[in-house]
Amino acid sequence: MTKANLDWPNLDFGYHETDFNIRYTWSNGQGSSGELSSDQSLPVHIAATGLHYGQQCFEGLKVFEQKNGDVVVFRIEENAKRLIKSCEKIHMAPVPEELFVEAVSKVVNANRKFVPPYGTGASLYVRPLVFGSGAQVGVKPADEYTFIVLVTPVGPYFKTGFKPVHLVVEDEYDRAAPCGVGDVKVGGNYAAGMRASMRAKSNGFTEVLYLDAKEKQYIDESGPANFFGITEGGVYVTPQSESILPSITNKSLFTLAGEMGLKPERRQVHIEEIFGFQEAGCCGTAAVITPVGSITFGERKVVYAKDDKPGKYCTELYNQLTDIQLGNIRDTHGWVKAIRPE
Ligand SMILES: Cc1ncc(COP(=O)(O)O)c(C=O)c1O
Repeated sequence: MTKANLDWPNLDFGYHETDFNIRYTWSNGQGSSGELSSDQSLPVHIAATGLHYGQQCFEGLKVFEQKNGDVVVFRIEENAKRLIKSCEKIHMAPVPEELFVEAVSKVVNANRKFVPPYGTGASLYVRPLVFGSGAQVGVKPADEYTFIVLVTPVGPYFKTGFKPVHLVVEDEYDRAAPCGVGDVKVGGNYAAGMRASMRAKSNGFTEVLYLDAKEKQYIDESGPANFFGITEGGVYVTPQSESILPSITNKSLFTLAGEMGLKPERRQVHIEEIFGFQEAGCCGTAAVITPVGSITFGERKVVYAKDDKPGKYCTELYNQLTDIQLGNIRDTHGWVKAIRPE
């Protein structure tokens, strides 16, 4: 297969056009069979609930070319299940798991030449999206939904590579509330975080670290990623909270941490605990792990990466997970699934 003519090693984490996306529409339980389209835009009813009332959710997952040439997707069934949860929470018709897998496989196959070559550090980012496309004026769920999967080849999330980032504990804004929608992937959560994120950046930080909205005592997550710390006693500790997105990367690292001899713990993490960690990281599909170099909390600051180098545990966890994704080591967990040409 001849690859697209792209500067693979220097690709940024941005939108790069591919040949096809796939679209499904359904109303009253009747769905379309999925249409591959090369159109980059979409006609949307001006009264669609997705535009007015935030009836919208999405997913993000990655496809890799492995060492042996296989094209694989990472933990796709977990993303399919999370999309169902997101749809249900905002009363949208859920996309069945089999349809999700079918849609991703079809659109990846239609764009195989955009799967970045093994060893370039790039991957094919897959973005499934569901929104209420039916018109409503009153606040109620749509009677028509659209499910789209688009793909785009991406380079590393951070241009600087696997380098520590600097977080600031958010003291003014909340991202999500308990019993709200913080535990699902709806667009409104990201809109809610943009002001805080831009403020942090303009103050010289990379991202914010949110505390729980109720007590303002416990760590929730960073803007677009989960958070973990490694204690001096060798515990991989990550927050348990009703208002954070259950990260599939974090779930995988939790397993790998246990296998590496760390003790994995998911529990409420008090903000004062940051002063006792030897390492900390943010994790998610986009960057896998972003080592945390420092956290500023009010007038205090804790520094983990003194010489701007990631710690040994973050590095080992990152290497383990990316080696599984790229087929450099055997996937003993059944996390990668090949997408064979049709
Ligand atoms: C708010 C938030 N938390 C955590 C994550 C990490 O989740 P995952 O590892 O499934 O990509 C993401 C990214 O999807 C996110 O947007």
